[in-house]
Amino acid sequence: MSSLAALVTGGTGRLGGAIASRLEAEGFRVKAAGRRDGDLATTGGARTLVEQAVAGLGGLDLLVNAASAGFAPKPVEEVEEADWDAALGATAKGSFFVTQAAAPYLRQSELGLVVMIEDVAAYQPWPSFAPHCAAKAAQAMLTRVLARALAPDVRVCGIAPGPVAVEPGQEERRAAETLLGRVGSPDDVADAVLFLVRSRFVTGTTIVVDGGRLLR
Ligand SMILES: NC(=O)c1ccc[n+]([C@@H]2O[C@H](COP(=O)([O-])OP(=O)(O)OC[C@H]3O[C@@H](n4cnc5c(N)ncnc54)[C@H](OP(=O)(O)O)[C@@H]3O)[C@@H](O)[C@H]2O)c1
Repeated sequence: MSSLAALVTGGTGRLGGAIASRLEAEGFRVKAAGRRDGDLATTGGARTLVEQAVAGLGGLDLLVNAASAGFAPKPVEEVEEADWDAALGATAKGSFFVTQAAAPYLRQSELGLVVMIEDVAAYQPWPSFAPHCAAKAAQAMLTRVLARALAPDVRVCGIAPGPVAVEPGQEERRAAETLLGRVGSPDDVADAVLFLVRSRFVTGTTIVVDGGRLLR
């Protein structure tokens, strides 16, 4: 049996890179995409990436939307149009148009799965991250909208990580925000992706992988 094919956007990043490595270790053929493979804030970049990935992989069974930009704290009074465009671009627009372009191929797959890498910021208002929270809330809604739009052929699920790849020096502060008293790792998110690959009756919902951060 030939292996399954996966496209991981943000595959050169911290979470996307770990997810791509784990999928490869599990036998997937993987395209781990970064900005050099196309700007996902544009519809053309999104469509070209999918076409090239499908050509290189010989099909598509799994799409992981893990590309994101614009995660930087700023008071509401100082947010500019460029901050808004950066946050919405790859996360909201990119997740939508990559999924739109991938859908015909995923429909032909026996697996047919889209995983949105969301953020607990989709569900929790952070005053210093207004564009990021809005972009993540948009992406989280797309998880649900696209699950309905692409059913029953394609499942669409989300994973909302908490602190799993934190900036150096921030570990202690970020650990204190969780119920478990520690930060997680990108591999915790990769575990959840593999759970969704195996869990064929799960669609349209989000797994929170945050050590209990949302409850604090
Ligand atoms: N880090 C965490 O602890 C954490 C927690 C919760 C949620 N998340 C979510 O997990 C996802 C990944 O986060 P991360 O920490 O792994 O981010 P990261 O290390 O900053 O990586 C971002 C990835 O997105 C790609 N990218 C950015 N803008 C793009 C564009 N316009 N077109 C194409 N690709 C673009 C980057 O490509 P290049 O490498 O080419 O720049 C890179 O591969 C994000 O959605 C983030 O919100 C992360």
